[in-house]
Amino acid sequence: FLDLDGASTNIKIQPTMYGIFFEDINFAADGGLYAELIKNRSFEFDEPLTGWKQPNTKTLSPNLDSGFLTIITDKSKTNKNYARITVWNDKSYLLENEGFRGIGLHQGEKYDLSFNLENVSGNISAVNTNLIDENGTVISSVSTIIKGGGWQKYNAVFAPSKTVEKARLQITFTGKGIVNMDMISLFPQDTWKGRKGGLRKDLVQKLYDLQPGFLRFPGGCIVEGRTLAERYQWKKTIGKVEDRENLINKWNNGFAHRLTPDYWQSFGLGFFEYFQLAEDLGAEPLPILSCGMACQFNTAELVKMEDLDPYVQDALDLIEFANGDSNTKWGKIRTEMGHPLSFNMKFIGVGNEQWGADYIERYKVFEKAIHAKYPDIKIISGSGPSPDGEFFDYGWKELKKLNAQIVDEHYYNSPEWFMKNAGRYDKYDRSGPKVFAGEYAAQSVGVVKPDNKNNWLTALSEAAFMTGLERNADVVYMTSYAPLFAHAEGWQWTPDLIWFNNLKSYATPNYYVQKLFSNNRGTEVLNITENGKPLTGQDDLYATAVKDESNKGIIIKIVNTDSGSKSLAINPKNISLGKNLTKIILTAPQLSTENSFENEVIQPKEETLSLKKGNIKIDIPAQSLVILKIN
Ligand code: AHR
Repeated sequence: FLDLDGASTNIKIQPTMYGIFFEDINFAADGGLYAELIKNRSFEFDEPLTGWKQPNTKTLSPNLDSGFLTIITDKSKTNKNYARITVWNDKSYLLENEGFRGIGLHQGEKYDLSFNLENVSGNISAVNTNLIDENGTVISSVSTIIKGGGWQKYNAVFAPSKTVEKARLQITFTGKGIVNMDMISLFPQDTWKGRKGGLRKDLVQKLYDLQPGFLRFPGGCIVEGRTLAERYQWKKTIGKVEDRENLINKWNNGFAHRLTPDYWQSFGLGFFEYFQLAEDLGAEPLPILSCGMACQFNTAELVKMEDLDPYVQDALDLIEFANGDSNTKWGKIRTEMGHPLSFNMKFIGVGNEQWGADYIERYKVFEKAIHAKYPDIKIISGSGPSPDGEFFDYGWKELKKLNAQIVDEHYYNSPEWFMKNAGRYDKYDRSGPKVFAGEYAAQSVGVVKPDNKNNWLTALSEAAFMTGLERNADVVYMTSYAPLFAHAEGWQWTPDLIWFNNLKSYATPNYYVQKLFSNNRGTEVLNITENGKPLTGQDDLYATAVKDESNKGIIIKIVNTDSGSKSLAINPKNISLGKNLTKIILTAPQLSTENSFENEVIQPKEETLSLKKGNIKIDIPAQSLVILKIN
């Protein structure tokens, strides 16, 4: 018997309760969400020919049989390299790009090619570009006439004759001579909202379907950088795409078992685009900035306190960039980028996963400066990576003393930990800072283990834990699973919420758990108890109930982690329930079951039932998450 009490608890569920955490890890941005198909389009990687091949050029010295490419560096530019191509024999010189683990092309879709070219000498009259499949067969081809003098931008459109997962771009020339080339770029026309140079539609759609309350960006460890010089600097990610300085990705070396030495950030998905994405998703933008501490798992380099000003200024300027009008310096830049209206940013994060006295000392400076100028902005502070460790406790103690507003907690742990901790926030101080459970995911094998799976056990244990997040919505204001995306052939970290390759993507069971909670978040917590106690695993049952003001209904979420089904009677008090019941069930044949590109075995199934007066009698299948919507 469960008791559902309809009396108001006055515990409001924040619109930000369920959000998403985006980081460019696992090819999530370059090679993923950012739909650019050419890797190293402007020759900026440390090895400037990464991603490029000259199949017929056997030596780097002038090759009289075909041609060759050299890199010219102009240090006065942010995007400093370009390619100088000398064509000796236009019948044999070839330049190829391999894309991000290949170039994914869909038959029936169109692709925009563009490049910048300067005609230096000789008589090169055309650049011929082919898309070729895995066997070298041409599936689309365009020829661009070269005009004389100076750098010029050229555009063409491909219409591939077949769908290919691992195509390549091949460039040949008509004539002999020397040209300079830069920003060789290829985008699908069919991007999210049809934006030129935009985002991959299928991936944004999956985010949109989550109805996230916030979008945290751009990371993660990527915010901090391996060194301070390699930290994420938002000002370098706005303005013209071709002027954004590329940076080695912090995950370039991944972990020893997943080396991805070709992983850079082009920043085509930069801060303007993140704000725009948040707006598209109806989510609050939540940028996290460096607090002057490099990643503590790498160099842990620290900026001296007397040198912290530029970091703090970056935070103040960011708020102006997001919210200031066109009379302000940074608001003007946003306006010029095409968004005169404010992005209405309300939250900012100071540092990611930093801890100890060094963090608190720096956080204080940020807090003072931000709130002096922008008292309404809510600041997210960090508590370090592992729950309940020594520095975690120290961080919380200090942040409480400082009246911090929202503290970011991260936990990557076993499914058992998640089930055991469904009551974690029952014990939290109601008068202390609010919680942002900013990164969490159950690990099937162990943290940062390459054979971690997104199986049903991990998702089920997260669902059990999430009932505790929701029951404690007076303390927990924001939550997000991590990491969000992974390319099946370019990942450094697993498990991840959404997996993709160059053509398609699939949702994990963990995704469906997030979606069901988020799409059914409700507006106010109600008490649902057994023998007067919240369900935190007694009889392997976990539960939460909410009122939903938008449709005057009640939503109950129940998780059964037992291997047998449960027949429950729910006894409503202080409430008269409607007759319509929608029952959504998420379960799997086995705890080890996973979804895949071929088959999303685990998906919510919905049935509608009609309720009689009195108790609700309901079967909760073995190892399942069940959502009951009553109105
Ligand atoms: O989500 C992967 C990484 O885990 C994040 O970058 C970092 O914040 C955490 O350690």
